[in-house]
Amino acid sequence: MRLQNKVAVITGAASGFGEAIAKRYAAEGASVMVADLDEVGAKRVATEIKERGGQAESLRADVTKTADAEAMIQATVKVFGGLDILVNNAGVPQRIGRFETVTEDAIDRIFEVNVKSWLKTTRAALPHLEARGGGSIINTASIAGLRPRPGAAWYNASKAAACSLTISMASELGEKNIRVNALCPVAAETPLFEEVVGGQITDEHRKRFISGIPLGRLATPEDVAGAAVYLASDDGQFLTGVLLPIDGGRTTL
Ligand SMILES: NC(=O)c1ccc[n+]([C@@H]2O[C@H](COP(=O)([O-])OP(=O)(O)OC[C@H]3O[C@@H](n4cnc5c(N)ncnc54)[C@H](O)[C@@H]3O)[C@@H](O)[C@H]2O)c1
Repeated sequence: MRLQNKVAVITGAASGFGEAIAKRYAAEGASVMVADLDEVGAKRVATEIKERGGQAESLRADVTKTADAEAMIQATVKVFGGLDILVNNAGVPQRIGRFETVTEDAIDRIFEVNVKSWLKTTRAALPHLEARGGGSIINTASIAGLRPRPGAAWYNASKAAACSLTISMASELGEKNIRVNALCPVAAETPLFEEVVGGQITDEHRKRFISGIPLGRLATPEDVAGAAVYLASDDGQFLTGVLLPIDGGRTTL
């Protein structure tokens, strides 16, 4: 087991990538705090982990609220005795549309959740990571931050900020033996993707997204979870400041 005796907090873990990461981390031996705005969903994920013999608890946390971020970290340390891994995964999309049609409120929300929340979660987590002599922070960015497509300008900009922030955090936290890396997935069929297209994902959507992916399919939550295990585990112990595309070759080929 690659994460034996590690304690992890995962935000946005009631669904999609966060759910898959929580389940894989628990299967690899970690104790997992499943945190999400969606309390019922978070509880379901924690229950499913426990039914499979894993260690998990859940709580409702809005990562844009300082008090919630602090309570999330405090609860984790109280229940599991420390903290080794923070996964800043919660995120919100932009409905497909040209950049000048998006409202200021929508833009503020995208940046609040996708970027600014990391200040709150990470600031609360740092003393506890330092107390363990180091740790791993994994940020869910996107290939949208590396290779923007038309129709999601503000989301793309938030993920570009997420990529830049990951590198800056890594450069500042290395001396504390805290590694900071980013997951950069291509599109996957999660509820977030449905919000992007404004309804059910059709074959037309699939075809359009897959056409630029050399390996010929979309990403899956399991692809992302596998990369998240690697980055958090000792196998990734010399990796920091990495923006890891999980994209079937779309970004580089
Ligand atoms: N699905 C994709 O195509 C795709 C591709 C690249 C990157 N991403 C990124 O992956 C991450 C996870 O997205 P997903 O696709 O699994 O979507 P998802 O909708 O399945 O999961 C996102 C979760 O975040 C939670 N959340 C939203 N706002 C929150 C807040 N303020 N506080 C706490 N939780 C909050 C939601 O309740 C939801 O459970 C996001 O950061 C997203 O931008 C998604």
